[in-house]
Amino acid sequence: MAKFAVLFMAGGLLAAALLFHRAAATETESDGPQFTSDHQMLRPAHYREWVWLSSGFGMSYTEGSNSSPNFDNVFANPTAYRKFVATGQWPDKTVLVLELRHSESNGSINKGGHFQGDLNAVEVHVKDEQHFPGKWAFVGFGASAKSAKAIPTSANCYSCHQEHGAVDTTFVQFYPTLFPLAQQKNTVRQNY
Ligand code: HEC
Repeated sequence: MAKFAVLFMAGGLLAAALLFHRAAATETESDGPQFTSDHQMLRPAHYREWVWLSSGFGMSYTEGSNSSPNFDNVFANPTAYRKFVATGQWPDKTVLVLELRHSESNGSINKGGHFQGDLNAVEVHVKDEQHFPGKWAFVGFGASAKSAKAIPTSANCYSCHQEHGAVDTTFVQFYPTLFPLAQQKNTVRQNY
């Protein structure tokens, strides 16, 4: 009888271990980039549940006034975020989302300042060595596209990020919790 009980318990433990293993594997698989058979990237469906890196308000890269400032929110897929925290570097299959939202004022009880309104566009910076010869690519999904092709490498996205991004063509200097980490791990580029 005792023998059966021990066997039964061992079986239960084995089943639990297998289930746990499967759950862990599914999590890591599901937050990387997904592509259609014709090499379009699928819009990341659950990026709002990812790790929030920062928000910008009316950030502009040319001199002069910005008449209708946007908010931007930056998110990282959790698997890549954890690797970055451990190493100061973005691993393969990193997906960084830039979400652009209109700014609003004087709504509800709000009398001063600005709050975020409707979605304007979702842009992605993705690292995938298998899909892109330059490892990284930019993809623009606008407000609602479900899939999109990579933006051609001649676009200024690539040159500005290459010249001014502090870590591996990404703007970690504007992500206040990651920047000190990257400095500590010595992964910040000189002269960004
Ligand atoms: C003149 C410089 C410049 C150009 C051109 C530019 N960006 Fe960026 N980009 C930035 C800055 C600065 C940030 C940081 C935003 C923040 O702090 O909120 C950023 C952040 C991003 C991010 C978040 C991930 C990261 O790499 O840090 C994405 C995605 C992104 N840009 C996409 C694009 C796309 C797509 C284009 C081209 C259509 C583009 N960018 C062109 C300066 C630029």
